[in-house]
Amino acid sequence: MKDLHCHLLPGVDDGAERLDDALAMARVAVAEGIQEIVATPHAHLVSGDDPRAEVGRRVAELQAALDTAGIPLVVWPGSEIFLEPDTPQRWDAGLLVPLANSSVLLVETSFHEYPHYVPEVIFQLQARGARILLAHPERYVAFQRDLSLLEGLVARGVVAQVTAGSLLGVFGKAAKQAAEAMLQRGLVHLLATDAHRPVGNRAPAVQAALARAAALVGEARAHALVEAAPRALLAGEPLDLPPVVAPSNGWAFWRRWAVGAGR
Ligand SMILES: [Fe+2]
Repeated sequence: MKDLHCHLLPGVDDGAERLDDALAMARVAVAEGIQEIVATPHAHLVSGDDPRAEVGRRVAELQAALDTAGIPLVVWPGSEIFLEPDTPQRWDAGLLVPLANSSVLLVETSFHEYPHYVPEVIFQLQARGARILLAHPERYVAFQRDLSLLEGLVARGVVAQVTAGSLLGVFGKAAKQAAEAMLQRGLVHLLATDAHRPVGNRAPAVQAALARAAALVGEARAHALVEAAPRALLAGEPLDLPPVVAPSNGWAFWRRWAVGAGR
């Protein structure tokens, strides 16, 4: 499995604080079945005039530490970019760090309000050759209220990443319900951890969320979210995901009964 959104680099942003934290996160990820992680520090917190070189240097240091510790994890450079009106100009200036040396940009926006410029900025980046991976649409209040905002972006080629914890209720009921609805409507294409810590609900865990996704859309689609889709995206290929398969009514009935009986 590949995790395309993880705050693994130590001492850069609000993710891993020290190298020990990053190694502990890596051990959790490997135990969960993750073989490759794209380190995605918040772009505005990467220091220096050359963010690509800075992230590349830090990734090389972390990879060396992982290898020394015998942790079988491959780390790639990346970043999580908060969309601003001048983000396309930052692309032009070579200041954006794409995922794993591809043309994919992991982008995010405000959780609380949806800036009017976001679609236009995304389309400008696409026109420059970037492929856009939208981080956690299920956590944006505007998207929770109106799924058509995401539908419009997906129709224009945006790929959407649901965060594992959202499916488990880590970010509240609205985010959980939105994640479920987006999955069932085929509006999210990838699942990532967006992990920040080695323990607790921001750890790089994926198995519980995968099981939940499988219950919603079937095993094949769920596994494609962490295997085929991230691989194809980084390779510049079409995603070609299996169709969304909703569970049968009988299963849903049993599930409602079982959940109710467990209360
Ligand atoms: Fe993130």
